[in-house]
Amino acid sequence: MSIYPIMMSQTNFIHRDSLHYPFEERGSQFGDGVYEVIRVYNGNYYLLEEHVNRLFRSAEAIKIDLPFTKETLTDLLLTLVEKNSMTTDGKVYLQVTRGAAPRDHVFPENTHANIYAYVQDLPRKLENLENGVCTITQPDVRWENCYIKSLNLLPNVLAKQAAKEAGCYEAILHKDGLVTECSSSNVFMVKDNKIYTFPATKRILHGCVRMRVQQFAADLNLLFIEEGFTTEDILLADELFLSSTTSEIMPIIQVDGQQIGDGKPGKITKQLQQAYEADANIAQMQN
Ligand code: PDD
Repeated sequence: MSIYPIMMSQTNFIHRDSLHYPFEERGSQFGDGVYEVIRVYNGNYYLLEEHVNRLFRSAEAIKIDLPFTKETLTDLLLTLVEKNSMTTDGKVYLQVTRGAAPRDHVFPENTHANIYAYVQDLPRKLENLENGVCTITQPDVRWENCYIKSLNLLPNVLAKQAAKEAGCYEAILHKDGLVTECSSSNVFMVKDNKIYTFPATKRILHGCVRMRVQQFAADLNLLFIEEGFTTEDILLADELFLSSTTSEIMPIIQVDGQQIGDGKPGKITKQLQQAYEADANIAQMQN
């Protein structure tokens, strides 16, 4: 993996090794911050506006004042990719915290948000996209404001680790059997040519790719139904897939060791993958 040395810190660009974070930083001590992961294909952002909008929504929800407008942040992010001469597939991680201050739960006065962003290589996960992935189910033990893309990811980390230890790609989360989303992606069920997914309430992250899936479904004249379904329903699904910035639209072929459908990526999932590739202006997979 190549190293891109230039990162954005506040509104400047510095060498990656020059960033020094104080140990009394609210992001690390309280998880008091928000973040975004934004996809880059061939050096071009995908869904940049959607990510910037969500960052502002998340920051507002936890009362962090951002020191720039959406337009300025967009320009900074575009410059970041340019300064790193990035022309390949990758991602940008962008983080905002309430800042550094002596440790105290209440918001500190006279401090400012700490912001940084950096680029990383990320090749497309072509093998998984073509063959599908295995998943496990895990209880969703997170708080009630999952629409905020907060730095507090411990339940997500533990669920993803459980999936890894089971030899799987992702953990499907459920509250008392009702499927919400996955540890770092949204999840969808296809049944009788209809696409079901948990409604965009406070209980899930409103994924940028999820939003596009809704649009692709409309373009393909498929019904997109924002309705909960259960861990039992998914075992009887025709198709199952997940969506995220880093996983794109990923077929799920197994849940808790049980095969979904015929155990291969489904027809509608493939149509959505093709719509994604056209939308993101990237090369088509072999099908
Ligand atoms: N995860 N749900 C959760 C809990 C997520 O963390 C993510 C994204 C998604 C999908 O959102 P989007 O389509 O905007 O990427 C859904 C990012 C990629 C991460 O934390 O790495």
